[in-house]
Amino acid sequence: MATLKKLSVIAIVISMSLFLLVNADVYFEERFDDGWEDRWVKSDWKKSENMSGEWNHTAGKWSGDPLDKGIQTTQDLKYYAISAEFPEFNNKDKTLVFQFSVKHEQKLNCGGGYMKLINGTINQQVFDSDTPYSIMFGPDICGENNKKVHVILSRNGKNNQIKKEISYTIDQLTHLYTLIIRPDATYNILIDNEQKQSGSLYSDWDILPPRQIRDPDAKKPEDWEDREFIADEKDSKPEGYDNIPSEIPDQNASKPEDWNTEEKGEWKAPLIPNPEYKGPWKQKKIRNPNYKGKWKAPMIDNPEFVDDPDIYVYPNLRYVGIELWQVRAGTLFDNILICDDPEYAKKVAEETWGEIKYAEKAEFEKAEKLKKEEENKLGTPLNDDDEEELDYEEPDWEAKLKEDDEGKHDEL
Ligand SMILES: *[C@@H]1O[C@H](CO)[C@@H](O)[C@H](O)[C@H]1NC(C)=O
Ligand SMILES: *[C@@H]1O[C@H](CO)[C@@H](O)[C@H](O)[C@H]1NC(C)=O
Ligand SMILES: *[C@@H]1O[C@H](CO)[C@@H](O)[C@H](O)[C@H]1NC(C)=O
Ligand SMILES: *[C@@H]1O[C@H](CO)[C@@H](O)[C@H](O)[C@H]1NC(C)=O
Repeated sequence: MATLKKLSVIAIVISMSLFLLVNADVYFEERFDDGWEDRWVKSDWKKSENMSGEWNHTAGKWSGDPLDKGIQTTQDLKYYAISAEFPEFNNKDKTLVFQFSVKHEQKLNCGGGYMKLINGTINQQVFDSDTPYSIMFGPDICGENNKKVHVILSRNGKNNQIKKEISYTIDQLTHLYTLIIRPDATYNILIDNEQKQSGSLYSDWDILPPRQIRDPDAKKPEDWEDREFIADEKDSKPEGYDNIPSEIPDQNASKPEDWNTEEKGEWKAPLIPNPEYKGPWKQKKIRNPNYKGKWKAPMIDNPEFVDDPDIYVYPNLRYVGIELWQVRAGTLFDNILICDDPEYAKKVAEETWGEIKYAEKAEFEKAEKLKKEEENKLGTPLNDDDEEELDYEEPDWEAKLKEDDEGKHDEL
């Protein structure tokens, strides 16, 4: 009897936790356990040019759990494209959460670490950088001047980059990226479960024209005072001011004893700056009591703004893809989650990235220490692939986005 009671208690606990789980709609979740290859299609992009890189199913050189594998780029100076399909869904009236972890084991100098959500129907076998997408999210680095976390939201064929900066750390450890888009058109961006950016889809992207603009027909009123300082009319030039010479003869100088007046003329004391002289007179400036600040045209409703309450909606999301160029390979993706519940995503994050982060850091520090010891023994730096100089050209992302918008699809 007691056993039966215990069992029913366990059953209740289990059904409660199941209830918690099914509370979230999970559209896609990938932890890259065995069998992952059945779910992912490697694209033939760049294969004919021998420029298509190989993925390694691994936990990497250092990890918090060697059995917790992801997929890692392995070859320098290669292109990578891989995607997985899930049952199509529409995020209307729902929150959309897109989360994944990425570790750049190489010292990343130029390469992507972002992922894409793709809508409609595509041929995964030829998925590439030109395949239209709905959302592109994650870090991308190429040289010192191109470092950012992309959050590109595509709308009617136009790719809109977020206008705010997202601060992040570049190191050789795993970081978790989370994008949350809500039906009230607000969003949050989290890195390692910490909020890095938030706001509105209306103002932080140019998806729609702005709601309000400065009235282009407004004119500055004639009597608008935009001079912050004016001359003090009460201040007048002291009498005799202009008669003060800038230089005076040096009183301390004396005529040299051997001065030859016949040859050199009458001796004159050399001139020195006059301490009384204060430069040309300037009237004092005072604060303008009528100063109104810099004039700006008043805001008016933008006639070009047409609200779209579905600004956050992606009606037919169906694939998640990784499409990258990497100068130095070694980027490892894992723990992809697409769902409608930020709390569930947070829980998954804590159970995956949160569980391994300290152990991974310890492993990384151990590896660095071993490398240092080895180098000290040899007396020379180890031949480290990560330090190898590889030539590459820094891309122009703005130009690339523009090209995409114009329907031209040249490679970077
Ligand atoms: C392809 O590239 C690899 C190096 O990435 C090289 O070893 C191999 O010989 C190349 N194959 C062809 C057919 O060019
Ligand atoms: C895969 O990763 C493991 C761990 O870093 C490494 O030992 C192995 O050589 C890699 N394999 C390939 C093909 O790169
Ligand atoms: C993807 O969605 C957009 C709207 O967000 C739509 O314009 C486009 O046609 C869709 N693409 C496909 C392939 O269905
Ligand atoms: C003249 O010399 C004295 C003593 O050295 C000094 O205090 C004074 O400032 C000098 N005057 C000028 C005009 O240089």
